[in-house]
Amino acid sequence: MDMRDDIQTVLVSEEQLRAKVAELGARISRDYAGKDLLLVSILKGAVVFMADLMRAVTIPCSIDFMVVSSYGGTNTESTGLVKIVKDLDADLSGREVLIVEDVLDTGVTLSNLVPMLRMRHPNSVKICAILDKPARRKTSITADYRGFEVPDAFVVGYGLDYDEKYRNLPFVGVLKPEVYGG
Ligand code: IMP
Ligand code: MG
Repeated sequence: MDMRDDIQTVLVSEEQLRAKVAELGARISRDYAGKDLLLVSILKGAVVFMADLMRAVTIPCSIDFMVVSSYGGTNTESTGLVKIVKDLDADLSGREVLIVEDVLDTGVTLSNLVPMLRMRHPNSVKICAILDKPARRKTSITADYRGFEVPDAFVVGYGLDYDEKYRNLPFVGVLKPEVYGG
């Protein structure tokens, strides 16, 4: 069985992702030249983007990971509250933090997380999201760097899951409705 048989539409191809990641990496390298850059990725969805983006960044930087979870909710909808399940190892004080995210959807996760990170006295906290779903936003948060705007649909691939599957698809796509139907 091939995962691709479950995909209805490809929204962002491998080639488009590769080109965009290269472009973002170049911009970030220029903008943070001479600075103490720390890339912070939120597991698990952002792991694929992080692995690609860090190799497109040509200046020295560090990486760190955290795990957050929302209280309650279902596979495709999240609730309003966020808790830190696994915290960063890095000390943020005086550093330039760039959050590397898979998708800015409702914005609830990062609207909660950014103020928590700011309390640790970094020099700056910015957001780099490979996907943006502005139609879904419930807060005023925006990405400082963003890859692709996608429509209000549940997407999988390039790190994004449905029920923990499809993260390893190398492109971003929409599932066939019967996959949810059970
Ligand atoms: P938020 O709604 O902006 O807080 O997004 C929180 C998280 O929900 C994202 O980091 C993703 O892990 C997940 N998420 C949001 N939209 C999708 C989607 O379309 N497919 C898979 N996961 C998603
Ligand atoms: Mg997820």
